[in-house]
Amino acid sequence: MDKFIVQGGTPLNGTVAISGAKNATLELMPAALLAPGAYQFTNTPNIRDVWTMSRLMASMGVHCELNDNILHINTANITSQEAPYSYVKQMRASIHVLGPLVARYGYAKVSLPGGCAWGPRPVDFHLKGLEKLGAEITLDGGYIIARAKRLRGANITFDIASVGATFNLMAAATLAHGRTVINNAAIEPEVTAAGRLLQKMGAQIEGLGTPTITIEGCDNLKPANIETIPDRVETGTLLVAVAMTGGKATLTNTNPYHLAVVLEKLEEAGCELDIRADEITLTAPDQLKPVDVVTAVYPGFPTDMQAQWMSLMTCAAGTSTVQETIYKDRFSHVPELARLGCDIHVSENVATIRGGKGLTGATVMSTDLRASVAMVLAGLVAQGQTEVLRIYHLDRGYESLELKLEALGASIRRVKTDQL
Ligand code: UD1
Repeated sequence: MDKFIVQGGTPLNGTVAISGAKNATLELMPAALLAPGAYQFTNTPNIRDVWTMSRLMASMGVHCELNDNILHINTANITSQEAPYSYVKQMRASIHVLGPLVARYGYAKVSLPGGCAWGPRPVDFHLKGLEKLGAEITLDGGYIIARAKRLRGANITFDIASVGATFNLMAAATLAHGRTVINNAAIEPEVTAAGRLLQKMGAQIEGLGTPTITIEGCDNLKPANIETIPDRVETGTLLVAVAMTGGKATLTNTNPYHLAVVLEKLEEAGCELDIRADEITLTAPDQLKPVDVVTAVYPGFPTDMQAQWMSLMTCAAGTSTVQETIYKDRFSHVPELARLGCDIHVSENVATIRGGKGLTGATVMSTDLRASVAMVLAGLVAQGQTEVLRIYHLDRGYESLELKLEALGASIRRVKTDQL
């Protein structure tokens, strides 16, 4: 297992390039199951979740190869329509193969994501939507089994705009008979990116990036190539790192429009931003101001940025709050941040951060991707040495994070360890 050793106290300065978006890639890859043949996705991040999706798809007979951030996929010889628990438990986005498989093969067997029971959450929207499209869904031995001769178009309305369910149903509807309308669809850039690939494959889709997506089903799609959009969460995370450490840095190869609310909040906190078409330069203030955030579906403040925001706010002069409305108990990072001296109190879905108290290095660990990176950020400003254990969580979604931080001047090393 690897850990990071971070020596805090260095302002980050310089320029780094942002990688392709994890969550977009995890939709683009399953979309390739809809039409047999060769695909090429440029700007693909070299991260653990992409390896997991590659291995899952390889278990179905798909050839996946990632070289120099170009992902080559060949879906010409699919031998199985099954997503085993061994992959799905590692990565919930494995559920994204469900819609494409049942649409193209009339059959899919996909493990329920680990730790989740059949019930109102967490994949009920996916299943109810597929049933509306005419699939017969059964549950057997922890697996979702979906069957359909041919899906047929339907009107689907989500109670909550769900990223994964919008992808699954939009993808499935491309090969259905007739028209599908998805109301209250997710408008996240990653869903739109997947929709653009489907359009390039020949799908008739209107309304991408709006809450109403209309899909006119067709008989066949063809393979296509696409460039993955920049990762908005990686962009936000590195901006926070620069802001916290009191530095000045430029992030290139990004899309500022995809994180407008985060940029506004950084400005409110006193950061100076120079925003260009695909670059952002952030200059940290002498003293950060406390700023409250409430997570919300896109274009609101992303839940995937709240842990990092808490780390930032521990450096602000005063008290701020983070209200989590998407995953109401997503606070596993709080007790670990407390080990570094962060003063954060959680009541229901609101965390109150009393900033400006100074952090001290410690050994910390985490149980999820964004929580892990929040520890690294706090370690960058803590006095002395911080060890972040279990960084395999972080490796799921950040490409060479330590190299990027090092390029900006941080003292951070990846070390092999037996510590769990
Ligand atoms: C995606 C992102 C994840 C991000 C999340 C919210 C990927 C791979 N992951 O996850 O990083 O944190 O969006 O922005 O893209 N819900 C249900 N039933 C369902 C589906 C969702 O109740 O069937 C609820 C969820 O519990 C949550 C909300 O809907 O409260 C939004 O979840 P959703 O957008 O589906 O998240 P994911 O697609 O899983």
